[in-house]
Amino acid sequence: MFIVYDSLTGNVARFVSRLDFKKEKVSPKLEVSQPYFLVTYTTGFGEVPESTQEFLHRNHSNLLGVASSGNRNWGQLFGKSADIISLQYNVPILCKFELSGTYNDTERFTQEVNKIVQFHSKVDRVKQ
Ligand SMILES: Cc1cc2nc3c(=O)[nH]c(=O)nc-3n(C[C@H](O)[C@H](O)[C@H](O)COP(=O)(O)O)c2cc1C
Repeated sequence: MFIVYDSLTGNVARFVSRLDFKKEKVSPKLEVSQPYFLVTYTTGFGEVPESTQEFLHRNHSNLLGVASSGNRNWGQLFGKSADIISLQYNVPILCKFELSGTYNDTERFTQEVNKIVQFHSKVDRVKQ
């Protein structure tokens, strides 16, 4: 499975480096033509980073799910970018994690990815 991530200060980059999936960082010209999961961070006051918004604007049709890094010091706004993206593009939230996450966060993320991939392959089989 393919992971696209966005990271400004390196926490999300560290999180995804521990995942056993192919991954690529958001960049202005990145176009993704295969199903993928997005991992990003939360900025401003509970906002989606602009680089992530621009990427999704061009590439949302293949998005299967989203996860966000944040910091619990932000209270109700913790990891809010995952909520916004989930609502905007109607995809599930895999998890929210603090900073670069823990071992449990990467385990949970991987389990959620596998569940969704299995679900989609079942749907594809029924459609055939
Ligand atoms: C200016 C600024 C605003 C932030 N706003 C939020 C926020 O609203 N909610 C949240 O959960 N985390 C917030 N954070 C924390 C970041 O999401 C967190 O540090 C994240 O791990 C950054 O990911 P990165 O190191 O991959 O860029 C903010 C951080 C900064 C510097």
